[in-house]
Amino acid sequence: MSKQHTSNLTNLLSIDDLSQNDVLTLYQTTLEFKRGFEQQGKNVDLLKNRTIASLFLEDSTRTRASFELAAKRLGANVISFSASASSLKKGESLVDTVQNLLQMKLDLIVMRHKVSGSPRLIYQRTKVPTINAGDGANEHPTQALLDLFTLWEKGFKSKDLVVALKGDVLHSRVAASSIRLWNKLEICYKIIGPKTVMRSFLPCKSDNFNNQPFNLLYNLRIQRERQEKDLISSLQEYNRFFGTKLSDLKPGMYLMHPGPVNRGVEIDSEAADSPFSLILDQVEMGVALRMAILYLLGKKKGG
Ligand code: CP
Repeated sequence: MSKQHTSNLTNLLSIDDLSQNDVLTLYQTTLEFKRGFEQQGKNVDLLKNRTIASLFLEDSTRTRASFELAAKRLGANVISFSASASSLKKGESLVDTVQNLLQMKLDLIVMRHKVSGSPRLIYQRTKVPTINAGDGANEHPTQALLDLFTLWEKGFKSKDLVVALKGDVLHSRVAASSIRLWNKLEICYKIIGPKTVMRSFLPCKSDNFNNQPFNLLYNLRIQRERQEKDLISSLQEYNRFFGTKLSDLKPGMYLMHPGPVNRGVEIDSEAADSPFSLILDQVEMGVALRMAILYLLGKKKGG
């Protein structure tokens, strides 16, 4: 790993923790890990003897698998557990659980929790570098970062991106982190969806933005589990008015979705599986991006 990839980052709880320079360092490091694994196809020992706790206290497929694979590719020890298979189920508090794990000498914590702010609370109590792997409707910073890396790796520059963010923006932690990241990098975006699930956002600084066609359609999942009351009349009606169809996608345009995808609700199969779709590329880039963030936070300082 090149020596120039240094960062003063101590945590990744929010996109707000990152400077523009941190994002660039992260992307250069990600690219090196991606190329390194493609060329050599084997694990490295950059985090040998480091111990990473993977605490997924809310369900996950992509994020958990990619963090744990990333940690193993870096040679780290991984302690992995979920709420249903831990003593949290017997009434132990989250802070007590983590304090107990700390006695096993953790170097990094990766945490997902349904309550917003839980990863920050754990960092405040433990001072162990912590990565937010999704907390309630608050943030999902590594998802936003890997999505933009996927475009960056395809040659898109921030200034050329015109994003349409479509769906349940109000309840989406991916939207919250992506909007922070796009604002930081001055990427222009518009929001499409039912007014009942909108959130306010900064307008684009470019004067003719409203006349520009978008080149990235970013579809969000309908977050039924986080909606307090029925904000959407029915999934069929949502699909009729806002579901992405193959005919919505035009040459020069990419389609993204963080997953899990609800086919036939926010996106039709013909669109999700079309050549416009980067949905599986996003998953692939997630491993390299998460290797980079684990490495930058977990390597020995000065190393
Ligand atoms: N995108 C995402 O967070 O997926 P998982 O819930 O499967 O981790």
